[in-house]
Amino acid sequence: MSKPIAIEVYNPNGKYRVVSTKSMPGTRWINLLIEQDCRVEICTQKKTILSVEDIIALIGDKCDGVIGQLTEDWGETLFAALSRAGGKAFSNMAVGYNNVDVNAANKHGVAVGNTPGVLTETTAELAASLSLAAARRIVESDQFMRAGLYDGWLPHLFVGNLLKGQTVGVIGAGRIGSAYARMMVEGFKMNLIYYDLYQSTRLEKFVTAYGEFLKANGEQPVTWKRAASMDEVLREADVISLHPILDKTTYHLINKESLATMKKEAILINCSRGPVVDEVALVEHLKQNPMFRVGLDVFEDEPYMKPGLADMKNAVVVPHIASASKWTREGMATLAALNVLGKIKGYPVWGDANRVEPFLNENAPPPAASPSIVNAKALGLPVSKL
Ligand code: GLV
Repeated sequence: MSKPIAIEVYNPNGKYRVVSTKSMPGTRWINLLIEQDCRVEICTQKKTILSVEDIIALIGDKCDGVIGQLTEDWGETLFAALSRAGGKAFSNMAVGYNNVDVNAANKHGVAVGNTPGVLTETTAELAASLSLAAARRIVESDQFMRAGLYDGWLPHLFVGNLLKGQTVGVIGAGRIGSAYARMMVEGFKMNLIYYDLYQSTRLEKFVTAYGEFLKANGEQPVTWKRAASMDEVLREADVISLHPILDKTTYHLINKESLATMKKEAILINCSRGPVVDEVALVEHLKQNPMFRVGLDVFEDEPYMKPGLADMKNAVVVPHIASASKWTREGMATLAALNVLGKIKGYPVWGDANRVEPFLNENAPPPAASPSIVNAKALGLPVSKL
């Protein structure tokens, strides 16, 4: 028999059993579940990534819903186990859900929640931070200082790239890509080129209006262009940020050939999902092109980096922290809990998954709805009229 998994229990006599595979920031999410008669069990096992077997043990014989993490493999085995335990709801505490086999969830009638609407600005801010860190060689300089190597100002010391007047390229101009584009255009007066299957009219209007404002103040106006192909962005942009979802069509979107298309001194940022970039090809490209720089929040085989990446001075690497602001992480926990609670209570699904403020308002009870269920249509769930 496998060893029992360590858990912390809140409201032991609650009618519905909800399991969270990890402790999550804030306490509001726990309180909201308790108030609605849930017994909340939080896994406290000292192991960062839980295995399928660990999660099966957590689900046990009776479980109404699970809040899980993007590191977990939510496929046929787990949805079958949850369904056998009487569970009807699962929510990722993440906006991305490439770790979830939604078809398997559909087969077992399990609703799958995610947490959009609360990560946009936080994630875009990290992409902007990585852009600056790469452009101005912040991490290299920090290491140099700490190593005691600074012995006086020099004209060539850590010379980087000026962003003003350069072109920022965005691949995938959805919520996060558009927020990032806006920050880079407004903050650093960069011109924009973007590639997306859909036109981002709001973003275009924003850049036009800001360009007019600059012109009226006697400054060089910023410009925008919607590229006809991704290659056009790769060829023309000085800083390129990747914001697609990960699926079959975006796996290794950036590979040896696409890297070769980019400018020798370009900066590449990835806060989407690791496998969007062929990391082996990237390491080789970084070796061959010392002026090419990269800022990575995500990796192909998380938590590992491909051999050689950690040695590259032209790479800034951070451990998948794009959504890691207190407000966002507490919001994600709340939305994930309410996704699960909503399905348990038979509530409808909220009409606009991006309009999440009513769920985050601490001074009022949240709407009687699940904020975001990605397979609502497949399961025929009703949509809230609120
Ligand atoms: C984080 O990567 C998320 O998808 O929320």
